[in-house]
Amino acid sequence: MSTRKLIRNGMLVTASDTFEADIYIENGKIVQIGMGLVPDERTEVVDASGCYVIPGGIDPHTHLDMPFGGTVTADDFATGTAAAAFGGTTTVIDFCLTQKGRPLLESLQEWHTKAEGKAAIDYGFHLMIGEMNDQVLEELPQIIEEEGVSSFKVFMAYKNQFQADDGILFQTLQKAKEYGALVMVHAENGDVIDLLVRQALADGRTEPIHHALTRPSMLEGEATGRAARLAALADSQLYVVHVTCAEAVEQIARMRDMGYRIWGETCPQYLTLDQSKMNQPDFEGAKYVWSPPLREAPHQEVLWNALKSGQLQTIGSDHCSFNFKGQKDLGRDDFSKIPNGGPVIEDRLSILYSEGVMKGRISLNQWVDLCSTRASKLFGLFPQKGTLAVGTDADIVIFDPSISRVISAATHHMNVDYSAFEGMQVQGCPVTVLCRGEYVIRDRQFAGVAGAGRYVKREKYDADAPLPVKQPVTAVNGG
Ligand code: URP
Ligand code: ZN
Ligand code: ZN
Ligand code: ZN
Repeated sequence: MSTRKLIRNGMLVTASDTFEADIYIENGKIVQIGMGLVPDERTEVVDASGCYVIPGGIDPHTHLDMPFGGTVTADDFATGTAAAAFGGTTTVIDFCLTQKGRPLLESLQEWHTKAEGKAAIDYGFHLMIGEMNDQVLEELPQIIEEEGVSSFKVFMAYKNQFQADDGILFQTLQKAKEYGALVMVHAENGDVIDLLVRQALADGRTEPIHHALTRPSMLEGEATGRAARLAALADSQLYVVHVTCAEAVEQIARMRDMGYRIWGETCPQYLTLDQSKMNQPDFEGAKYVWSPPLREAPHQEVLWNALKSGQLQTIGSDHCSFNFKGQKDLGRDDFSKIPNGGPVIEDRLSILYSEGVMKGRISLNQWVDLCSTRASKLFGLFPQKGTLAVGTDADIVIFDPSISRVISAATHHMNVDYSAFEGMQVQGCPVTVLCRGEYVIRDRQFAGVAGAGRYVKREKYDADAPLPVKQPVTAVNGG
């Protein structure tokens, strides 16, 4: 196979520019970008006529091969990363869970074992912090500097399971400031949710919709505001994962306006699906059980506007797939036993292009920034990944905007028996995907190798990086 490739006649799109150019790739890197580049006889020419050529997607939020609620996610690193590639993603940053009393390095080693020999695209890990003690404090600098893990996740929800208290969150923020890491939070008030869930079950309210009704948006807003203020007090940096609602956006926007380093991610599901999905008969609502839950429709426009204005900066899939049969089923008689999460890893770029760019909600360049570049910068991958420039990894997606297709479990590549977006018509599709110059997807067929994906050590968080320039908000509807 040729180690030299020339991608010709495409329209390059980065987070800042859109221009016609060819890209010359050698030994996994971009070595030249320019007009009318001429291949030699050893160079394979890849035609990108009529297509956008964009940096490979970076999914900052996945859960592959993860135990949850008495079961394990349906996608592992083999099926999950192959599906990600079909969707135009070339790097995932997966959440490594930890356990109290267990060395952090041991958990990290467990996650390496899950990924090695299976991943078809590159990957990094975030590390969950669930306790603070001398052992954790001792391990943290090594985790950041030697293991290349420069982001930590603290759960403010999932009481008696993953949840940490405010003291742990605050100390994690302090240490992140000291060593150069980014703290991620799942922001929901877990104590109050736990109470509401127990009250609902005691009243016999057991159907899937009650998952949403016991996790009101006010409790997401409250936790988001609390975490943001703790980050401000620690003079640290915070990334709020899976933001779903107006109340949380408002908190993030307010703190950013005051100059604090607060960042927010949302997901395709919160932008396009609403809570009514959870009311479907025959337990179908269980397919849409996420935490935080899907919200009422008006929140969607608030999220789109927040992406447009820069109040939210990234799109994660929060891919956490469970089969409807045999897994979501666990909660048939009790919504609190439905494993939380859904299959999204394959649909992230397509939904954002189709619902975002095509509908005029975000620009082409914002699409690239949201799905790739911004995460690269925040999580210490830039400029190796997340852009198209000489010297960077040749992680490249050829995206054909003329293809129209319907999302369906019958045709997707995720190892799960339903699609949360079943029947959704989307415009645009990744046709060819390269990871470090090698085909992972070629003409919409899998051409990758399980195990070819490499672990990427990430740089420290750069607290001096300037905040992005904000654009005026056009319209924010109520929530
Ligand atoms: O419902 C969700 N989001 N499942 C995955 C775990 C998490 O909270 O991110
Ligand atoms: Zn979460
Ligand atoms: Zn009911
Ligand atoms: Zn998640």
